[in-house]
Amino acid sequence: MIEHEIYMKRCLQLAKNGLGTTYPNPLVGSVIVHNGKIIGEGWHKKAGEPHAEVNAINSVKNKELLAESTIYVNLEPCSHFGKTPPCANLIIEHKIPKVVIGCIDSYSEVAGKGIEKLTNAGCKVTLNVLEKECLEINKRFFTFHNKKRPYIILKWAETADGFIAPLQNETKTSITISNQYSRQLVHKYRTEEQAILVGTNTVLNDNPNLDARDWFGQHPTRIVLDRTNKIPVDFHVKNKKNPTIIFTEEENYVNSENCIYEFSIFDTLFISNILKNLYEKNIQSIIIEGGSITLQQFIDSNLWDEARVFISENNSIEGVKKPVFNFDTNQTVKIKNNQLKIYTNYD
Ligand SMILES: NC(=O)c1ccc[n+]([C@@H]2O[C@H](COP(=O)([O-])OP(=O)(O)OC[C@H]3O[C@@H](n4cnc5c(N)ncnc54)[C@H](OP(=O)(O)O)[C@@H]3O)[C@@H](O)[C@H]2O)c1
Repeated sequence: MIEHEIYMKRCLQLAKNGLGTTYPNPLVGSVIVHNGKIIGEGWHKKAGEPHAEVNAINSVKNKELLAESTIYVNLEPCSHFGKTPPCANLIIEHKIPKVVIGCIDSYSEVAGKGIEKLTNAGCKVTLNVLEKECLEINKRFFTFHNKKRPYIILKWAETADGFIAPLQNETKTSITISNQYSRQLVHKYRTEEQAILVGTNTVLNDNPNLDARDWFGQHPTRIVLDRTNKIPVDFHVKNKKNPTIIFTEEENYVNSENCIYEFSIFDTLFISNILKNLYEKNIQSIIIEGGSITLQQFIDSNLWDEARVFISENNSIEGVKKPVFNFDTNQTVKIKNNQLKIYTNYD
């Protein structure tokens, strides 16, 4: 069993390479072992490209060894024809006798059918090796399919005395609360999620780019709330660098090449309605970066999965108060003179 866990850990390590690039597909890594030696490995890189099992099988030099090998994969192999043929079929074709799986794929197209196909073909299937870790790595994918909404990460930075922004000054110069290392980490976080969402005041006060320029990887799709459609056209969120979705109650909007407006009434159902809209757009995860009014809507609706809160050692005395958020942290990380508190919503 220990041996199974070691190879499954390697699958998870490989799977993680795809974080931010596989949407709407899950993160999957695969390892092929022959007589205690890894002879092949691979991971899924991008939707439409080969799955992890295909890359792992293709990497094996002597294909004859496959008939005496064990294939490890963190997620149940698929059994349906999507953009690529089913991985379960490929394992059977190559006569791989043993398959070790981290967790079952609850996605309705797969949901146990891959395992059934393998077992019917005579493969010895071992299930749920490091299941907790395998579910965790695909928390975005599972939340999206099971809850029919994106995985939601709340993020903000606050001063030691609980403000997320100082009082606006006349020049509207933005003042940063967190240090440069925390800000760079936030850009890394942005490459991992499919979209980033902020409220109207944040756009008007800070004119943010909402991109990941201080890290390597994909920029998220920008999502902006603008009830009265008052954000000027020359603001960064409306530039052509990345696509932007704008939720508004104003009917006289004009879509442009990169700005897509979505009509929505800003009532009590607003948050669940925009999440439904984003689900239909196949957006699997969002990082919500403020301000307080926006964050509070998600907190009060209990529509969040994780929160990442950066706390500086400085005081602000007055300004925009942090959202009301009374939960226990499950991890605190020190980033020079900042603290990062991470929260998980187990509901
Ligand atoms: N430290 C940080 O991490 C951080 C992060 C982001 C922002 N900030 C700061 O936060 C400040 C802005 O925060 P804020 O709390 O005043 O505003 P905000 O959340 O950015 O925007 C709120 C505005 O959005 C519109 N809105 C209407 N219905 C809404 C709904 N259901 N959900 C969300 N928004 C809705 C409203 O504008 P209408 O009046 O047009 O309806 C509302 O006033 C800025 O100064 C910014 O610098 C700090």
